[in-house]
Amino acid sequence: MYWQGKRVLVTGGAGFIGSHLCERLLDAGADVTVFTRYTSNGIQGALLDLPAERYEALCIIAGDLRDASGVEAAVAGQDVVFHLAAHIGIPYSYVHPNDVVQVNVNGTVNLLEACRRAGTGRIVLFSTSETYGTAQYTPIDEDHPMHPQSPYAASKVSADQIGLSYARSFDMPITICRPFNTYGPRQPARAVLPTIIVQALASEEIRLGSLTPRRDLLYVRDTAAGAMRMAEEESTIGTTLNLATGSDISIGELVDIVQAELGTDKPIVTDEARIRPEKSEVMQLLGDAGRAREMLGWAPETGLKEGIRETIAWVERNMHLFHDRGYRI
Ligand SMILES: NC(=O)c1ccc[n+]([C@@H]2O[C@H](COP(=O)([O-])OP(=O)(O)OC[C@H]3O[C@@H](n4cnc5c(N)ncnc54)[C@H](O)[C@@H]3O)[C@@H](O)[C@H]2O)c1
Repeated sequence: MYWQGKRVLVTGGAGFIGSHLCERLLDAGADVTVFTRYTSNGIQGALLDLPAERYEALCIIAGDLRDASGVEAAVAGQDVVFHLAAHIGIPYSYVHPNDVVQVNVNGTVNLLEACRRAGTGRIVLFSTSETYGTAQYTPIDEDHPMHPQSPYAASKVSADQIGLSYARSFDMPITICRPFNTYGPRQPARAVLPTIIVQALASEEIRLGSLTPRRDLLYVRDTAAGAMRMAEEESTIGTTLNLATGSDISIGELVDIVQAELGTDKPIVTDEARIRPEKSEVMQLLGDAGRAREMLGWAPETGLKEGIRETIAWVERNMHLFHDRGYRI
C-alpha cells in the first residue's frame, strides 16, 4: 500500500540495480520516473531488458547529474527519490578520478540541493561496501571504520557523508543504503560474475585478476527490496544500513561454482591488466545486516547457487551483449 500512486524518481534507473528497483516499484503501484545519463546513442541501458508494458509505464528523463537545473527539474514533484546514478568502475576511477568525483560527489550535492528546495518526502542514497575497504573485523557492521582504497570508494564515502550532513543540517529525510556486492541478471561484463560466466561459456580460458579476494554476494532483487523497505520506514532517517548476506566467497571459489553449474573445466589465467595495485585491492567484504534485519525485517531471499543459476540463464539468453574483445576498464 505504501507505494500505491507514489511519485518516485530513480536516478541511475537505467543501470543494473536501478532497472530491478524500477520494476519492483512498478509492481508495487508506484509512478516511476528514471533519471539517466544522456548519450546520443541511446539512454535505455538495462531497461531494454524489461517487458514492453513495464518499460512503457516508465517516464524516462535523459540528463546529467552535473547539470543542477536538469536535476532540479527531475526532482520537482517527486514524493520519494532513490539516488543510484554514479560512476561505479574502480579501474575507471584510477584513470579519471576527476570525472568520478564530479559525478559521484558534486552530482550528489546537486541532487540533495534539488531535494532540499523541493521538500522531497523521502530520499535513499546508494552507498557501497567499498567504503569500508578490506575488513578490519568480520562481519562488517555499520560502525566499521571507513577506509576507501580507490578514488571510487573515496567518492562514495564523500557522498555518504554529505548526505548525512544534509540530514543533520537541514533535517532532511535521508537514509543511506549500503549494499555489499550485488549480482544478477543485467549486470555487464565489467563485474566479476558475468565475466566468469561469459568466458566459461565462450572462451578457451578464463582470464581474471586476483582469485583470493572474498566478497559477500547479494542478489539484485534482494538489494532492491531492502532499499524500498528503507524508504518505507521513517525510523531509518539519518541512518546507514548495510544490505548483506553474512557469507562470503573467494573469486576462485566463485569460478568453481560457475564451472560446476556449466559442466566446464576451463583453465584460469591471470590477466595482469585486471590486477589492482596492492594497497587498493579490497581483500575481504563480509557484511553484517543485523540493523536492516531489526529495523526493516529485511533478509535476503535468494541463495547464492539459485542466484548464480538465474544469472547464468540470463547471460546465456543475452550473449549478444557480451563482445569478447578483451578487457576494458
Ligand atoms: N553493483 C554493485 O555491486 C553495487 C554494490 C553496492 C553499491 N552499488 C551502488 O549502486 C548504485 C548503482 O550501481 P549499478 O551497479 O546499478 O551501476 P550502473 O553503472 O549499472 O548504473 C549507474 C547508472 O548511473 C548512470 N549515471 C552515471 N553517470 C551519470 C551522470 N553523470 N548523470 C546521470 N546518470 C549517470 C549511468 O548511466 C547508469 O545507468 C551505484 O550508486 C553504486 O555505487 C553498486
